[in-house]
Amino acid sequence: MTPVLSVSGLSKRYGDFQALKDVSLEVAAGELVAVLGPSGSGKSTLFRCISGLTEPDSGLIELDGTAVCGPGGDMLRQARGRIGVVFQQFNLVGRRSAIGNVMTAALPELPIWRVATGIYPVVMMDKAEAALASVGLTEQRDQRADTLSGGQQQRVAIARALMQDSRILLADEPVASLDPDTARLVLALMHELARSRGLGILCTLHQPELAAEFADRTMVMRNGRLAS
Ligand SMILES: Nc1ncnc2c1ncn2[C@@H]1O[C@H](COP(=O)(O)OP(=O)(O)OP(=O)(O)O)[C@@H](O)[C@H]1O
Ligand SMILES: [Mg+2]
Repeated sequence: MTPVLSVSGLSKRYGDFQALKDVSLEVAAGELVAVLGPSGSGKSTLFRCISGLTEPDSGLIELDGTAVCGPGGDMLRQARGRIGVVFQQFNLVGRRSAIGNVMTAALPELPIWRVATGIYPVVMMDKAEAALASVGLTEQRDQRADTLSGGQQQRVAIARALMQDSRILLADEPVASLDPDTARLVLALMHELARSRGLGILCTLHQPELAAEFADRTMVMRNGRLAS
């Protein structure tokens, strides 16, 4: 089966510093792959190259078998829009409600008057509510994001990614700001969403024991090189 994400021969240097060296990996639908590795080893750089925030020097990145970067492949904005991203800092709009934050994933598709008035199409509201329900936050629908707990905020961020119809979710240290119990809850949820939605998840973690418990596979980044 075609992997949802395939990276081959990815390299990136910053000046004289080689941050990524010939990195290759694949993530299949329904699979949660963990990336461990010391601070500065290149994990976030890899994620930024995949999500399009950083331009790699060489290498090929394919989503569902379509090149989004590399020889013969342009940066396809549409394809990139289907990559869901979750970070350590939840990147929510604090004064917006939980549902309002989930809706932000759909804003680029909407005319400006809808964004300005907050009058959204019913199908989109339904989809946002379904996304919130799938992360267990129906009750917190109208609560301001900055009053939610850390774990709830991260679940809103995951729901926002689901709203994009992502095939692949990049989660860079999604549980680093959470206490151990909440971290386990969020990872269990991510693992379950991978299974139930056929989502491929690439996730950096700092604790090997969490990777062992929740990841289907674990890779290790060292000095810009990725090993299984
Ligand atoms: N824009 C940049 N300019 C110069 N060097 C950079 C830049 N971004 C990252 N680096 C360097 O690349 C290396 C890899 O950084 P990266 O953020 O990918 O590490 P990481 O594995 O995510 O670390 P951490 O676990 O601390 O998050 C580091 O040495 C970093 O200083
Ligand atoms: Mg990092």
